[in-house]
Amino acid sequence: MLSTPFVDLPPLQSAGGTVTLPGSKSISNRVLLLSALCQGTTTLHDVLESDDTRVMLTALRTLGCSITQTGNSVTIEGLGSQPTHTQVKLFMGNAGTAIRPLTAALALMGGSYELSGVPRMHERPIGDLVDALRQLGCQIDYTGKDGYPPLHIGQPQLKLDAPIQVRGDVSSQFLTALLMALPLVAKQDIVIDVVGELISRPYIEITLNLLARFGIRIQRDGWQRFTVPANSQYQSPGTLFVEADASSASYFIALGAIATGATASKTIKILGLGADSIQGDIRFIEAAQAMGAKVVSGANWLEVSQGSWPLKAIDLDCNHIPDAAMTLAVMALYAKGTTSLRNIASWRVKETDRIAAMACELRKLGATVVEGADFIQVTPPATASDWKAATIHTYDDHRVAMCFALAAFNPAGLPVRIEDPKCVAKTFPDYFEALFSLVQTEPQHIPVLCVDGPTASGKGTLAAQLASQLGYHLLDSGALYRITALAASQAGLMLDISGEAAIANLAANLEIEFKDDQILLSGVDVTAQIRLEATGMLASQISALPKVREALVALQHSFQRVPGLVADGRDMGTVIFPDATLKVFLTASAEQRAQRRYKQLISKGNAATLDSLRADLEARDARDMSRSASPLKPAQDAKLLDNSDLSVDASVDLVLNWWQSKQPF
Ligand code: DC
Repeated sequence: MLSTPFVDLPPLQSAGGTVTLPGSKSISNRVLLLSALCQGTTTLHDVLESDDTRVMLTALRTLGCSITQTGNSVTIEGLGSQPTHTQVKLFMGNAGTAIRPLTAALALMGGSYELSGVPRMHERPIGDLVDALRQLGCQIDYTGKDGYPPLHIGQPQLKLDAPIQVRGDVSSQFLTALLMALPLVAKQDIVIDVVGELISRPYIEITLNLLARFGIRIQRDGWQRFTVPANSQYQSPGTLFVEADASSASYFIALGAIATGATASKTIKILGLGADSIQGDIRFIEAAQAMGAKVVSGANWLEVSQGSWPLKAIDLDCNHIPDAAMTLAVMALYAKGTTSLRNIASWRVKETDRIAAMACELRKLGATVVEGADFIQVTPPATASDWKAATIHTYDDHRVAMCFALAAFNPAGLPVRIEDPKCVAKTFPDYFEALFSLVQTEPQHIPVLCVDGPTASGKGTLAAQLASQLGYHLLDSGALYRITALAASQAGLMLDISGEAAIANLAANLEIEFKDDQILLSGVDVTAQIRLEATGMLASQISALPKVREALVALQHSFQRVPGLVADGRDMGTVIFPDATLKVFLTASAEQRAQRRYKQLISKGNAATLDSLRADLEARDARDMSRSASPLKPAQDAKLLDNSDLSVDASVDLVLNWWQSKQPF
């Protein structure tokens, strides 16, 4: 997961490939709760691992549910009709799909519970659900503002004879909450009447469908009256597979429509759900097709490619696809004419006021936007030159972050900055990684920040921190020379000019894998070995051989991948990436560098003396500077940074400021 303050997406040109989507949030949280309310054991596969499901799992555990997790499979021993712990405080984060059904279930079961969340959760209405539950004799008090969490839930005195009324026009989750909880107490038929027009009906269909899988058959009269039949009893289905998230699929369906190109040689294949999905947002496909996407589907997969281009503007009532419709608002940037998305008042009470958020961010990109209480109209920038490079604020709303990433295909070739990319963790923690694995762009669009300088100048530390702050890939080119030296000495090759051809041949065919913090050579962990001073000396020797340097060029270029690269090493700015966006040449006195290396070695329990380290460094500098192949020297356009008296943090901040000054944001 990207957990940087922002991520800069370079201008992207095309996309193609296969993506496996994480499980649906709506289905995951419903079946987690239903499994907990059953008697017996249920195993759920492909459960989404995200902030919202974590909230639900933690709450269920706090209530005494026994839960085991292996990968994306979860096994739950049901509580039956009563939690083991009936006096608990539950923190619900910003998970609407957790707090609403849990409130209903706990209020009917009784006990003493406190439910609270993040500040935004305390601004999201729950009054209509509380009103409905109070009609049943539930004891619920607002401990903050009336109508909103936090809540205190007490012991109910149930009266179930009269039909209960619940409003259906603010959030369908109130009705879902009642439908999932009422079977707990259905000794007799319990009737729910929906007041007002029921919105987001497809989500109610998911609820009914999943309840049926757990043995509860709700009777339905149109969309106004629902009856929970007398003697309803949850029955575990034993095993259940969670479909991939249809709302998450919308970004990749849009990607196929925008970026696979007209030749049909590329497609986006989406695994984990088909067009027959039980999730309402699957109907996003029809909206995307109306805008020009070509979609084919099979059992558990979709395949999307570009149809009409530019996309066609649409005018659509989006009540049935409220979440996925945000993706349409970004697709509208690539359409001819004005796109109108109507009947989306529920956007205003989601993770953020989504109508206001989308309008504000789309305008930053140069679009013309008209917003109303329950609609948004988007007209794209008139020409490529009307697009603007923008910093997209994401309002702690995963969907804002995910859909705006698609703006990086803009015809102006501008980068897009997405703030707080980790907010996607709500439903799709690896969204950006999945996106990056599918997109392509010319190397000249992929930014490179080079950090060059002599040995022990702190390049490695600085480069690693810069990469982690920018969310970029990291190339530790010294490691490649060290690995080559190690492999060559293991192979018994001569490490001077007489072995040049053989070492070069070996270097071109290295089997290297960078796995988290480990470096594997032909499957063997060599992380510690290549860091030894002795290996460094060998690396210095073989790196003077021109053919060896040449053999490593292609491997080094292959690190230049979306979203960007921080490259560390002596010739990064001069030879390997001469067109880099920013080149930094670190300098520090031999004295300082020897001190640093000394501390580093001693702290790792290695023996060292300051004098011999300094002599070694000076010898290595002399060799690196005087050799004919890529001698150690700053690139002409490099910025010099003497970090002798700077802390690592201060150096990082300084370079990040230089970097920022090169950005169009
Ligand atoms: O940065 P380092 O100490 O890990 O580098 C090991 C050796 O590799 C060093 O003596 C110089 C050489 N090297 C090089 O010639 N070119 C690079 N881009 C990186 C390292």
